[in-house]
Amino acid sequence: MTKLNAAITGIQGWVPDFVLTNDILAKMVDTSDEWITTRTGIKERHILKGEGQGTSDLAAPAVKQLLEKTGTSPDEVDMLICATVTPDMQFPATANIISDKVGIKNAFSFDLNAACSSFIYALVTGSKFIESGSHKKVVIVGADKMSSIVDYEERQTCIIFGDAGTAVLLEPTTEDLGIMDSIMKSDGAGRIHLHQKAGGSVKPASHETVDAREHFIYQEGQAVFKFAVTHMADVSVEIMKKNNLKSKDIAYLVPHQANLRIIEATARRMGIKKEQVMINIERYGNTTSATIPLCLWEWDDKLKKGDNIILSAFGGGFTWGSIWLKWAYDPK
Ligand code: UT7
Repeated sequence: MTKLNAAITGIQGWVPDFVLTNDILAKMVDTSDEWITTRTGIKERHILKGEGQGTSDLAAPAVKQLLEKTGTSPDEVDMLICATVTPDMQFPATANIISDKVGIKNAFSFDLNAACSSFIYALVTGSKFIESGSHKKVVIVGADKMSSIVDYEERQTCIIFGDAGTAVLLEPTTEDLGIMDSIMKSDGAGRIHLHQKAGGSVKPASHETVDAREHFIYQEGQAVFKFAVTHMADVSVEIMKKNNLKSKDIAYLVPHQANLRIIEATARRMGIKKEQVMINIERYGNTTSATIPLCLWEWDDKLKKGDNIILSAFGGGFTWGSIWLKWAYDPK
């Protein structure tokens, strides 16, 4: 039997219009453009405004434009996975809502939450259905309305996050292209450093949890930084060694965009030059499940068929991992 690989055959991003700059944030909390820029590399982020607007409203335009540009009919999509930590509601899955909004009727759709590693976890999961031959057109969404769980009175955390929606199409190929290998990891002991205290089954919403601001992100920045900087670099080096890839073989590193200092440390450990690293954190901040596809979308017209690309992420859980893929098409 011919071996099937899963290849990304199209990518699309979508960001809302409103731009929250460092200067605006400096009027909301005790911070400055200088502090945010030097500590994180972020200058601005996009925020979804308006009543009744959720993560599916960030994702649906991305999926719709993806289907149009790849000439895919919604009826042909047989699976949709939504990577998110900010679902529209506890249930049903945001993936079901997105499918409904874009007219996808024949798909098996569900959500996947691995915090900031959600997109790479979902990409690996979707690729297995393609490789097995059971599914032929899989849409992986990476979308988060982080502004819905950010405490804009907490200066250490509110400066980092932004909102965005993205989508990629995965299809089978018999060529030596697409997702070649992956290493995915998790360690639940890390949950103490990064979580949302209330709103789940342990601590359902109550007046007290709202008053205590427990529905927002709780992050011990320094502790998370320490784990992120070592684990993301370690796993990126591990996937290179495992596949005998040297830094000169790699066209691009696509790191999760949480902090420019974490990105630079990872690139240094891999022996990769700055020009080979996709970085757009300055314009979007940390969009959680959307960071990696948002980079790929912006670099889409520079990528060539056969380019070796390493995707790497680290997030709450803790979760982390790396994917090696060979880009499957030339600029369109
Ligand atoms: O997305 C996946 C998971 N998340 C991450 O990977 C995020 C990892 N962590 C980080 O990126 C960084 O830890 C932060 C950006 C969150 C914070 O940066 P930091 O360099 O670790 O700052 P810090 O918490 O060590 O604070 C240093 C100082 C403190 O003041 P003192 O105690 O030295 O007087 C803070 O109170 O900076 C102060 N500070 C601020 N000052 C101005 C903290 N936040 C701010 C702020 N503006 N926004």
